[in-house]
Amino acid sequence: MKQTPPHRLPSSIDETLSLLADGDYLGDRSLATVLFLALRMGRPLFLEGEAGVGKTEVAKVLAQMLGRRLIRLQCYEGLDVAAAVYEWNYAAQMITIRLAEAEGGADRDRLATDVFSERFLIKRPLLQALEPDTAGAPVLLIDELDRTDEAFEAFLLEVLADFQVTIPELGTVKAVHPPIVVVTSNRTREIHDALKRRCLYHWVGYPTAERELKIVRAKVPGIAKRLSQEIVQFVQALRKEDLFKSPGVAETLDWATALSELDVVALDPATVSDTLGVLLKYQDDIARLEGTKAKELIDEVRAELRAAE
Ligand SMILES: Nc1ncnc2c1ncn2[C@@H]1O[C@H](COP(=O)(O)OP(=O)(O)OP(=O)(O)O)[C@@H](O)[C@H]1O
Ligand SMILES: [Mg+2]
Repeated sequence: MKQTPPHRLPSSIDETLSLLADGDYLGDRSLATVLFLALRMGRPLFLEGEAGVGKTEVAKVLAQMLGRRLIRLQCYEGLDVAAAVYEWNYAAQMITIRLAEAEGGADRDRLATDVFSERFLIKRPLLQALEPDTAGAPVLLIDELDRTDEAFEAFLLEVLADFQVTIPELGTVKAVHPPIVVVTSNRTREIHDALKRRCLYHWVGYPTAERELKIVRAKVPGIAKRLSQEIVQFVQALRKEDLFKSPGVAETLDWATALSELDVVALDPATVSDTLGVLLKYQDDIARLEGTKAKELIDEVRAELRAAE
């Protein structure tokens, strides 16, 4: 990522595209359009798509390019308010109470107010995201929402509706400037309509060959031109095969890096077979590709590249 001074909020779709590109994120126009609108309308952006296609990266690049703090809430099964919003620091509260008791004459009411003050509050991502920041409202990334349960989703709905949370002992915390929210999902389950309705939605698909080539060249500097073309065409051809898990952009980049490291100049069946584990992570998929299939795909890729010359 280049070290540029923070951008202001983009004022057009083209500016949004170049803001992403400055952060080495090569997005398509439909993504830039929905991102631009989400920023303009102050609505959360909901990104859904296969694994490794660049959903999380959107939030990271956005924060970096706007010079905002990135606050990440990684979702998982069993995520609760204590881990997502706030928690009282019980250990510190206990010590304070013990010390007050040891000193004698502890004023019970005062002690109760004292230990439920901000000093004993552990702020988790959602609460942090509501706090003011001199650099501007932070970017809140709610990553892989499909991994949480529906109860948490319902709770999140309330937070996203008003950008406020209520802590019974302290009162209500409301964001003066709401955070820029990016929600991602790998669609292992459907996210509830009520939550989607609050957001602007975009499906992040696999990139076209042209865009994927730009991504490889941006992210794997120094890679030979011909090799990068072959890699991208090969991965694009692989995605048309009936695989259990198609490779994402993340895998293309890993493979490009691996082949560069091995000083490969052009794909050949042996190298492809030996490095398939960088690209495919299921033995059934790897087994399908080993041997003649890899050679067929390489021949196909070569023919396509020759035709395009
Ligand atoms: N359009 C793009 N431009 C530049 N880099 C990209 C693009 N898409 C993906 N990448 C790169 O691919 C990698 C994976 O991206 P990311 O982690 O955002 O994927 P993801 O969709 O969040 O995947 P997962 O579902 O596994 O979390 C990152 O290194 C990212 O930089
Ligand atoms: Mg991700």
